[in-house]
Amino acid sequence: MRKLLFCAAAALILATGAASAAGGPKAPAQTWSFDGIFGTYDRASLRRGLQVYLEVCASCHSLRLVAYRALGSVGYSGDEIKALAATFEVQDGPNSEGEMFARPALPSDRFVSPYANEMEARSVNNGAFPPDLSLITKARKGGPDYTHALLTGYKEEAPAGFKIGEDMHYNEYFPGHQIAMPAPLVEDGVEYPDGTKATVEQLSKDVVLFLAWAAQPELEERKQLGISVMLFLIVLTAMFYALKRQIWADVH
Ligand code: HEC
Repeated sequence: MRKLLFCAAAALILATGAASAAGGPKAPAQTWSFDGIFGTYDRASLRRGLQVYLEVCASCHSLRLVAYRALGSVGYSGDEIKALAATFEVQDGPNSEGEMFARPALPSDRFVSPYANEMEARSVNNGAFPPDLSLITKARKGGPDYTHALLTGYKEEAPAGFKIGEDMHYNEYFPGHQIAMPAPLVEDGVEYPDGTKATVEQLSKDVVLFLAWAAQPELEERKQLGISVMLFLIVLTAMFYALKRQIWADVH
């Protein structure tokens, strides 16, 4: 029995070892403006990140859980949001004649998806499905560091001896190293209006920061509340301590 248990444990250790080996190297840790208890989303980077998402990623990836109006919480004006939403079209209806109709998107609509459904997405991408990016920085082990490593981890050529499938691309950080997504970021692929140089590294940092915000838009409020609660508890503790000393003053 004991032997059996030992074998099972050894098999498990081997299996997890093999799985992490297939997963490739660990994504290097990055510094993010939202790290730490006082961390916030760098607004300029977030704006650039939205631009990268819209100009590059949005042709393949949806962002179904985020409404345009959510951008209001990170400094976009009502007019900016209205104008951005209006550049997309959504299906609405039925109207009084019972027919569906297209209308410009409103701030209350979610980001419009590039494909009508998963089947269409797969047929356009050689059978692979570009996942929705709303929660991607939370859904993958390594979070934003992994997403950044993935976007910057493409190699022109697979290492000698590595067999790569047709229409697949070699990526150092993607589990198994073969990914159906072609390298989406190229130097100067986006022109930033704020003059920031659009290196692959910069484009990736900006779009990942934007995606981290999309996945956790409440992060700043949560941290603020945490800090307020800690301050409140410190003051309360001091008050109770003073009270305790006063109450026990005669006894000592
Ligand atoms: C030409 C279409 C296309 C574009 C453009 C594109 N992607 Fe992808 N992406 C895909 C496909 C297809 C997959 C699925 C890959 C697979 O499963 O092999 C994918 C997968 C991913 C994944 C998931 C990787 C994983 O670990 O499963 C992330 C994250 C991602 N893309 C981010 C982005 C970002 C960010 C951008 C914009 C900078 C972008 N993609 C642009 C097609 C695209």
